[in-house]
Amino acid sequence: MRKFLSKRPALIKSGVTLNKEIGVRKKFVYYNRTYSYWESRAQKYLEEPKQKVLNVVTSILRSNEPRKVLDIGSGPAYYAVKLAKNLGCQITCLDFSEEMLKKARDNVNKEGLSKSFDFIRKNIVYATLPIDSFDAVTFISVLHYLLPEDIELSLKKSYTTLKEGGKIIIVEYWANEILTEIEKLTLQIAEQNRVKYGIEANFLKENDYKRLLKIIGFKNIKVNYVREKIYLGKYFEMNPKIQFKCKNEYFIRVAIFEATKIK
Ligand SMILES: C[S@@+](CC[C@H](N)C(=O)[O-])C[C@H]1O[C@@H](n2cnc3c(N)ncnc32)[C@H](O)[C@@H]1O
Repeated sequence: MRKFLSKRPALIKSGVTLNKEIGVRKKFVYYNRTYSYWESRAQKYLEEPKQKVLNVVTSILRSNEPRKVLDIGSGPAYYAVKLAKNLGCQITCLDFSEEMLKKARDNVNKEGLSKSFDFIRKNIVYATLPIDSFDAVTFISVLHYLLPEDIELSLKKSYTTLKEGGKIIIVEYWANEILTEIEKLTLQIAEQNRVKYGIEANFLKENDYKRLLKIIGFKNIKVNYVREKIYLGKYFEMNPKIQFKCKNEYFIRVAIFEATKIK
């Protein structure tokens, strides 16, 4: 990976420094902060799955008939529950937030799906995952909360935990190489909010994800885009200092990456 990093410009368009590596203690402090952020947001986290994203993820996974799926950063399992229903598969939800997993368990029980679910409370950065175990791994709106070197690390872990022929799916906002004016505005607001909490917003670009996936060994790397509504009200509520003349809702493009583990 060093080779990959050294070839990259220090700063990519989104402002993310890819070749940054921080010390063990600083990293620990950073993830404690993101952990607290998610613990505090869990109660009010009510974002239902985006329908078009869900449709694309379902159809990608359906082609592989997965029996075991690992949903990393599952949050309250809103997507996972729909995927379990759509695909009839077993889902393991991994998240480091206790509060999020509590909501996930309630949600799963309410739907009568407890036999189809397992829960792991771990930070993906420090987690050890079983080798060759899952048919699919999903990261839905999660990877940008990790430090750049840990995005790479987590993708490598996903590769190892997938069975041969298994699929990885990554859903990320603002991954387009060229953003529209609306996307730039919404990104600024999302970033401002994270800065307030001392959390990084490492939104990598489409080519960065493709390059990373390729270097790790994934094949058949593809990206689909759908347009979804983004609700900015949540950021204004969390951070009244954000002052932008804009509406609460906009449509922006969401990237859905897929790739396969084929040796
Ligand atoms: C934006 S929410 C997305 C939740 C869910 N995937 C969805 O789209 O509805 C991000 C989730 O990732 C989890 N998360 C963030 N960093 C994590 C880490 N390092 N390890 C495990 N989970 C993490 C948070 O606790 C939170 O539940």
